[in-house]
Amino acid sequence: MHLYVCRDYDTISKKAAGLVGGMVSVKPNCILGLATGSSPIGMYERLAEMYRDGITDFSKVTTFNLDEYCALSEENDQSYHYFMREHLFRHINVPDENIHIPSGCTQDMEMECQQYDAAIAAAGGIDIQVLGIGSNGHIGFNEPADAFIGPTHLVNLKESTIKANARFFQSEADVPRRAISMGIGSIMAAKKILLIAHGANKAKAITATLEGPITPEVPASILQLHPDVVMMIDQEAAAGLSEYQPEGR
Ligand code: F6R
Repeated sequence: MHLYVCRDYDTISKKAAGLVGGMVSVKPNCILGLATGSSPIGMYERLAEMYRDGITDFSKVTTFNLDEYCALSEENDQSYHYFMREHLFRHINVPDENIHIPSGCTQDMEMECQQYDAAIAAAGGIDIQVLGIGSNGHIGFNEPADAFIGPTHLVNLKESTIKANARFFQSEADVPRRAISMGIGSIMAAKKILLIAHGANKAKAITATLEGPITPEVPASILQLHPDVVMMIDQEAAAGLSEYQPEGR
């Protein structure tokens, strides 16, 4: 596991975009696993800039997103389809047919889950998976639980996640209670993982992920078993790590 404690969010975003953009440069037809939420927004801005400046060409890239809320249409401005369009896809040249986001509105959700994992496998597997982390340690929408769930599956969101995500909705009551998410197995199958996190509210989850036992109660702790994880976090998110001494101490 490579841990970078960065000065601030902007530094994380630049460094993360460098890694993802670098992957696209060395493997133009690479498979990117993408996340939503506030963590990757700065990285997406940088990637869009790299496309505009002619540094990075996404024309052969394929993408798979981690998750989507159930029962929100793709046009709903709180859906992850909308988020990805606004923050990344409309600014770069990835072909529409290469973009994959699970549908939260399909009649047969079980089939949707199976087909999503099958599509990732058929594409050759994810080369680099971008992750944020919930303050409860979730990755994707894999919430703290009694067991790790491997494949893409339906999730009942935890109260803590509903509360955390309420900031994006008019009220907490509007936050969907269910979502579809890549499972821990789908995530761990990625060849490389990039986790980004900033802010004091992530410190407990980061410490538990890196220094705690591997347990489904902290889903991100499974990353200790992945052979190629890069974590880019800021000093506030690193504050609880036993090995970490803030600058100047
Ligand atoms: C988003 C996702 C979530 C977020 C996590 C952190 O696709 O899967 O696991 O990465 O909730 O969210 P932010 O970045 O908003 O703190």
